[in-house]
Amino acid sequence: MSGAEAQQALLGSGELERFCAFLYRQTGMSYGEGKRYFVERRVAELMARRGDASFAAYFAALRLDAREMEALINAFTINETYFYREDHQFACLVRSILPELVARRGPGDMVRLWSVPCSTGEEPYSLALWLLENWPLVDAYNVEIVGSDIDTRAIEAARAGLYSERSTARLSQGLLAAYFEAPADERRRLIADIRESVTFTAANLFDAGSMAAQGRFDVVFCRNVLIYFDDASRLAAADHLYRALNPGGFLCLGHTESMVRISDRFAVRRLPDAIVYQRPLDA
Ligand SMILES: C[S@@+](CC[C@H](N)C(=O)[O-])C[C@H]1O[C@@H](n2cnc3c(N)ncnc32)[C@H](O)[C@@H]1O
Repeated sequence: MSGAEAQQALLGSGELERFCAFLYRQTGMSYGEGKRYFVERRVAELMARRGDASFAAYFAALRLDAREMEALINAFTINETYFYREDHQFACLVRSILPELVARRGPGDMVRLWSVPCSTGEEPYSLALWLLENWPLVDAYNVEIVGSDIDTRAIEAARAGLYSERSTARLSQGLLAAYFEAPADERRRLIADIRESVTFTAANLFDAGSMAAQGRFDVVFCRNVLIYFDDASRLAAADHLYRALNPGGFLCLGHTESMVRISDRFAVRRLPDAIVYQRPLDA
């Protein structure tokens, strides 16, 4: 940092480092000098909201008040998502993963799917819509879909189920008509049956306890979050995800993400529609 930049900076380099280390310990999200602008903008907003005159006052409050911690996490998450994102994985779920899973089950058995992180809900609701539209056996099994995120504001929005045109742009008119209420303003609300088909909870991928609290799943979608982590937090998340799967269960990551460099505990499955990761059946 040059002298002039240091004068203008909200955080000195030691403060930035301490703040980012603190955020990392809570969330696994890895920020640093390269993201100074992003970090400072959010810290300035959080300080202004509280009326803190100095970073030191804000940082002290942060460590003493759980609500400030929640506000901090909510301010630093990047919630970009939309319906039917990377839908080749949903095709893979119906064409390859579910047939393999239910071959070991009987009718009426539970099939548990987890979208973590789910952001504002588009991903778990997409799972619900995709299964209703494309899985002929959807009524033969007891399907449970859970959506979880570290961001409590995103979870509230997911429960409300109100979506912008941008978020639903990939859905056909037929799907919009079948599963959404008539638009009241520029947003559309999912019908109650779909909103009620997904259970939303808070969970932190970086925290073993909050991950274990959700129980075991047959398929986990963990997409577009590991890119914000460093190698150590990816490894911790991989361990928690592995434990969250039933033996033989599947993990789907975002298309730029891979387990190969992170953990060798998963079997890599190259299925016709997608590459996915599997907890071995005997593990
Ligand atoms: C870009 S969104 C991805 C949403 C969805 N999976 C998708 O692919 O469209 C990333 C989400 O990761 C969440 N996130 C960040 N760190 C997390 C953590 N440690 N545990 C759980 N969720 C986290 C953020 O709150 C944000 O909603």
